[in-house]
Amino acid sequence: MAQSMSLLLVLCLFAFVPLCFSANLYPQFYDHSCPKAQEIVKSVVAEAVAKETRMAASLLRLSFHDCFVQGCDASLFLDSSGTIVSEKRSVPNANSARGFEVIDAIKSALEKECPNTVSCADILAIAARDSTVLAGGPSWEVPLGRRDSTGASLSGSNNNIPAPNNTFQTILTKFKRQGLDLVDLVALSGSHTIGDSRCTSFRQRLYNQSGNGQPDFSLDQSYAAQLRSRCPRSGGDQNLFFLDYVSPTKFDNYYYKNILASKGLLNSDEVLFTKNEASRALVQKYAENNEAFIQQFAKSMLKMTSITPLTGSRGQIRKNCRKVNS
Ligand code: HEM
Ligand SMILES: *[C@@H]1O[C@H](CO)[C@@H](O)[C@H](O)[C@H]1NC(C)=O
Ligand SMILES: *[C@@H]1O[C@H](CO)[C@@H](O)[C@H](O)[C@H]1NC(C)=O
Repeated sequence: MAQSMSLLLVLCLFAFVPLCFSANLYPQFYDHSCPKAQEIVKSVVAEAVAKETRMAASLLRLSFHDCFVQGCDASLFLDSSGTIVSEKRSVPNANSARGFEVIDAIKSALEKECPNTVSCADILAIAARDSTVLAGGPSWEVPLGRRDSTGASLSGSNNNIPAPNNTFQTILTKFKRQGLDLVDLVALSGSHTIGDSRCTSFRQRLYNQSGNGQPDFSLDQSYAAQLRSRCPRSGGDQNLFFLDYVSPTKFDNYYYKNILASKGLLNSDEVLFTKNEASRALVQKYAENNEAFIQQFAKSMLKMTSITPLTGSRGQIRKNCRKVNS
């Protein structure tokens, strides 16, 4: 036992960072305390996605925006109150992050079945997996046992989550700070095979990419013209556009094929192909090989959803995902 612990420590220090992230999480965590937990999450997610297809994308994205801010601890779900300033107000989240009512519905169903047992952080990890599956993507076993934070970080949300006009290097650095690498960056960006973006998130590319009044010429110019018709120079900020215009609700590798055709919607999508050799090779690979994408996506999601969880007696099991227990 002591030997295996020190082996784990060595692995953590030198190579397999994800191994130490997930050491305390395991898929059977609720097998005795709440055996129906996963089934309940799945049924509420399925109902929500049946009502609105986009919800699968919105829930998947929430896992990214939660895990990049003090780890996967449901800090994103806290509303402002007392000393807490909600992450929902941050630049990446405001008028953009959505799906919180679905999380509330899952939580209230679980509180009925097994009160004070299933964390909001675990709910999100399961919901992100189920959303991916419902959209036609891969499945994976979700390690469980995360607990919920008693605080939020607005500055963490603003600083850690990459912006769509960040440089390739800035985006990669922000991933590396979370223990994620270039392969994870390219694979997880494949989430943009589903869901929508607002005009305001890519307008700069259409009109004034580098401050000299010129558009981004690495964007296909007929695609750009189409985008301009509903994303004018000013106004229409909230107008919605498919991130993957070919198959916007299907979890496939058209995201990468679009990038090869200079039709990646966000600047952060296109730079994966234009600004770095290794990342370019991966975009090419995933565009050609859906199976390679699907497999790496599942692996990278496991890594992302295991970023520094609260376990053991740290944190708490919130009764209401929007507020800390009183
Ligand atoms: C690599 C850096 C990333 C950047 C710069 C980025 C940026 C964005 C932006 C700007 C939007 C549109 C938001 C809006 O206009 O309202 C968006 C949407 C989305 N992002 Fe990302 N993202 C990144 C990585 C990720 C990752 C890692 C995931 C999940 C694992 C993800 C999942 C999604 C999904 C599913 C949507 C659509 C959400 C919806 O329709 O509600 N993104 N992203
Ligand atoms: C990126 O976008 C933000 C928000 O629209 C803007 O304030 C900032 O100047 C942009 N940064 C660059 C380098 O273009
Ligand atoms: C483009 O952006 C720069 C600064 O980012 C600004 O000074 C300039 O006026 C803008 N040009 C146009 C045509 O909007």
